[in-house]
Amino acid sequence: MSGLMADTAAPVRTAPWPEWPVVDEEDVRAVADVVRSGVWGSLDGTRVREFERAFADLHGAAEGIAVNSGTTALTVALTAVGVGPGDEVIVPSYTFVATATAVLLAGAAPVFADIEPDTYNLDPEAAERAITERTKAIVPVHFGGAIADMDRFRALARRHRHLSIIEDAAHAHGARYAGACPGTLGAAAACFSFQSSKNLSAGEGGIILTDDEAIARTCRSLMNTGRATTGLWYEHHLPGGNYRLTEMQGALLRSQMRRLPEQTRRRNANGSYLDEQLSRVPGIRPMKTDPRQEIHPRHLYLFRYDAEKFGMPRARFLERLNAEGVPASPGYSIGLHQQPLYSGEGLKEQIPGRALAHLSERTGGGARVSCPVTERACATEAVWLVQRLLLAEQRDMDDIVRAINKIHASG
Ligand SMILES: Cc1ncc(COP(=O)(O)O)c(C=O)c1O
Repeated sequence: MSGLMADTAAPVRTAPWPEWPVVDEEDVRAVADVVRSGVWGSLDGTRVREFERAFADLHGAAEGIAVNSGTTALTVALTAVGVGPGDEVIVPSYTFVATATAVLLAGAAPVFADIEPDTYNLDPEAAERAITERTKAIVPVHFGGAIADMDRFRALARRHRHLSIIEDAAHAHGARYAGACPGTLGAAAACFSFQSSKNLSAGEGGIILTDDEAIARTCRSLMNTGRATTGLWYEHHLPGGNYRLTEMQGALLRSQMRRLPEQTRRRNANGSYLDEQLSRVPGIRPMKTDPRQEIHPRHLYLFRYDAEKFGMPRARFLERLNAEGVPASPGYSIGLHQQPLYSGEGLKEQIPGRALAHLSERTGGGARVSCPVTERACATEAVWLVQRLLLAEQRDMDDIVRAINKIHASG
């Protein structure tokens, strides 16, 4: 009896989960070689260019322009399609703050639209309802790696010819949807992040993929102080910054990229397995995967939690899941439309004179923005598991399932 009790008390999982990032000697050598060479900047070296080409090729895109972050990638891509002061850009209310802040940094105002309940991706109908004559772009986020409904966003762009679609692919490295990858799904450009947690990382960094030569040229100039590819060195055409990636980052990304296809395949398979297993547990609903998505990189493993059906509040469930050795979190605590920055409470004190002049009256400044699906996801429903867990073996996924079943059974 005491043995049985000890079993139930012991955490389901005590073995460690895979670490992130994964590093081997080849990564170390790749960076050390650059350091020894003394060629550290991409103006003089070839590593960033090699990485841009390899990453664009992996996604089947014509051009790749590496920059220093995902936020920069979005800001530069938005600027390149003509977003600026007086414009509005529609973004989902459920995403990392950078999706919307990039709009501000491009000089325009973000307008929030709600997400679909079964994917947590921008709802194309809500996005279309938010369009005005001031709307210059829409930014669907492939949240957690689930590709947004690009067929509908493409159709929407055809109906509203004055706006561009920019994909936020910060979670979608190596994803494949209806035979194509982010950057070739019919949007003007796709923007990726290489920040530490991302499925491909060099600590920081980002890239813009596009099939449009003119957009690529503008992005490259904006990334490199407004220079033209063929102009004189001190000839500057656009108000660009220095957003260049270093050669050390280029070399590390190129080396890390060796593993990306296999890691993506593994997460994709483990994610599908978890979906199947967890859909049997009362109160747990895995997200819907669009059947057109052939490869889901699962930057996050997400599911929807129903406290009533499962039998305890989400906070208690998460506490117990963590105690069982399965790290999990509720994700964002509020939607972007509720952030002080966008609800009218932010910046006032910090940046005198700037106040909220940069926001549209539809963004914040007291406007009533209602995004009930986002609010429910934040308040009670969403559960996130980070991508490194899905780099383990399928039998390790059973520990996640076992832990959840155990918590459910013991109430
Ligand atoms: C959805 C999303 N968009 C954009 C970004 C911004 O990327 P970065 O942190 O590289 O600026 C992130 C994450 O960091 C993100 O999760």
